[in-house]
Amino acid sequence: MICTRCAKCVRTKTIRLDLRSLNIQGDVRRVDCIDGDHFVDVMLNDEIIDVNDIYSDRLADEWRQVQTDRDKVLFYILSQIVYPNFDAPRAEKFESLYAPVDEHDIVSLRWQKGKAIGFYTVKPTGTEIFSTKERYVMPIVDTAYVRSEYRNRGFGTEILSDVIARFPNEDIGFSKPISNGMLRILKTFLMSHKEYRLRFWEIADCDIGVSQQLIWCRLKKMTMT
Ligand SMILES: CC(C)(COP(=O)(O)OP(=O)(O)OC[C@H]1O[C@@H](n2cnc3c(N)ncnc32)[C@H](O)[C@@H]1OP(=O)(O)O)[C@@H](O)C(=O)NCCC(=O)NCCS
Repeated sequence: MICTRCAKCVRTKTIRLDLRSLNIQGDVRRVDCIDGDHFVDVMLNDEIIDVNDIYSDRLADEWRQVQTDRDKVLFYILSQIVYPNFDAPRAEKFESLYAPVDEHDIVSLRWQKGKAIGFYTVKPTGTEIFSTKERYVMPIVDTAYVRSEYRNRGFGTEILSDVIARFPNEDIGFSKPISNGMLRILKTFLMSHKEYRLRFWEIADCDIGVSQQLIWCRLKKMTMT
């Protein structure tokens, strides 16, 4: 096949993907370029899903919950291929790799001029933690990511606005560890939105009660040390 990155005919390998946690039943295959040693795209049945493509049915610049199989595949590519391989998370900034989502997680993509440029996922209230069998008592923002070339334009901050609009009367949790970048966004947001200072929590996926702490208090402690 012709590789779009190598711009020539190359040898490829395909691996079948199991995306049942995203409720995709069809035939999904990851295609890699052997000669260039890099990821190319994902085939969903006979459709090529290229994360760099512009999708004419997604021209509205907005956060949008994923519903179609194509958008679920785009989320998969961003979270499991682009983020780990092209925007490598930096441990010293508390950025971590993301496990595949659970079936009931809410996944939203940010569309910008027809391109999927970021995502965030939420574990709904009542989600059971596999290891401890505890249940979350509020929605938890579990993952968030904006492609590096689109950062520092306000998309990450929009995640906070989108979440509070989606869950207007609830406290909101953020999975521990919160990265330095996200913590800065939360600080700026809470400085100007006093009413959320007692509603945003950092929560670990074990010992919910013990780990739960107000993000505003954490920020205050950081400024004092
Ligand atoms: C954390 C993350 C989602 C933030 O995304 P982002 O789109 O860059 O976030 P924003 O653009 O809203 O804010 C980032 C900075 O740009 C600034 N900014 C916002 N809009 C801006 C604009 N129009 N022009 C210039 N700067 C702007 C913000 O004030 C903020 O500044 P600060 O870092 O000094 O506080 C992103 O860095 C990322 O994906 N990181 C890797 C994964 C990660 O850490 N996820 C969070 C796990 S908890």
